[in-house]
Amino acid sequence: MTDEHVINKGLEGVYFTESAICKVDGQAGRLYYRGYSIEELSKNSNFSEVTFLLLHGKLPNNREMLEFNQSMSKERDLPEGMISYIKENAQKMHPMDVLRTCVSMLPAYDAEAYDSSPEANFRKSVRIISKSASIVAAIGRARANKSYVAPDPSLGHAENFLYMLNGEKPRPEMVKILDIMLILHAEHSSNASTFGVIVAGSTLADLYAAITAGAAVLKGPLHGGADEAALSMMYNIGKPENTEKYIEDALAGRQKIMGFGHRVYKTYDPRARIIKGYLESLQTGNSEELKTLSQIAMRAEKLMIEKLGASKGIWPNIDFFSGPVYVSIGIPKELFTPLFAVARSSGWCAHMLEYWQNNRLLRPLEKYTGQLDLPYVEIGKR
Ligand code: ACO
Repeated sequence: MTDEHVINKGLEGVYFTESAICKVDGQAGRLYYRGYSIEELSKNSNFSEVTFLLLHGKLPNNREMLEFNQSMSKERDLPEGMISYIKENAQKMHPMDVLRTCVSMLPAYDAEAYDSSPEANFRKSVRIISKSASIVAAIGRARANKSYVAPDPSLGHAENFLYMLNGEKPRPEMVKILDIMLILHAEHSSNASTFGVIVAGSTLADLYAAITAGAAVLKGPLHGGADEAALSMMYNIGKPENTEKYIEDALAGRQKIMGFGHRVYKTYDPRARIIKGYLESLQTGNSEELKTLSQIAMRAEKLMIEKLGASKGIWPNIDFFSGPVYVSIGIPKELFTPLFAVARSSGWCAHMLEYWQNNRLLRPLEKYTGQLDLPYVEIGKR
């Protein structure tokens, strides 16, 4: 191997493995989980079923769905030690930091934490996917100075999350919206956080370590943190009529507009299109805050597409319209990225389990540009 090797900055365009989980067509703006289009799944399915699909590679029959829901439900409660940790720290750190720490605490409560058989890893996946939702709900409660609400085993995943967050059973339309958001965020091939999971797991670190790595990577505003940042921008814009000047000024100052652009999509992100559709349907009859946010989002989107859509291939991504939709179901801004992690934990686990079937340590190269063979000079003589 020579130093003449091409450097793909940001690993752009580099394939590192094969996978049968997800297809992202960045030119056509299409997304498929295990062969099913995201439009089909978001219209007809729910998060539990999509999780089963991602983990098992096929849609469940009635019995399989029932058993899977039961196994998810059984894993929902949180250990006392973790609830105390959340109460103690939820107001001191960003919820993503609390979530990441809680995921890395899970081995303390799992007798098979270091059993790396495929069966144990599958059970751990269900544990992580199920418990992460409870962790985020508990963080939301603690940040609002409210006590932990234990899960209700009779409820589905999205419904139970809202119940644990708010302490009351949610309206069916809230559950539907959250289910769709979770489906849309569940998987996206080798995005930065999934790659982070696989890098950690490729060393044969355990599943909890790998998912903790994924949570760390997701936090950044260039990745999962963009949803919170996009909503903050909308609040900063304040009034719909301020939108164009705000965006023009930001672009003139070479700032990035959060919720736009994507490494793979050079057209409209199909997930953003679905979320935008929901936002449009929410506009009438809702709160003033929501109407204002929706109008700002629509005006920002129009301007960004005019300025950067065709010319630079910068279009809305999944994170742009998510904020106002979460606001419509009462999710606080700081929980957006943690909720993204709750959803993506199913894709992370599916990928890790698949990669381990044919594991190879991930270890790229860097081209060295420093000096060589320097003489060592004693500290007092430098
Ligand atoms: N606003 C304004 N300009 C942008 C934006 C944006 N959101 N995104 C990219 N650009 C511009 C860059 O400034 C750069 O311009 P230049 O060629 O004049 O220097 C050009 O487009 C290429 O941008 P890069 O950042 O190099 O492209 P990359 O493929 O690395 O970007 C990324 C992908 C990181 C997502 C980028 O578009 C971005 O930072 N977007 C904002 C953050 C965001 O929304 N992230 C969420 C992505 S979806 C997800 O992870 C779930």
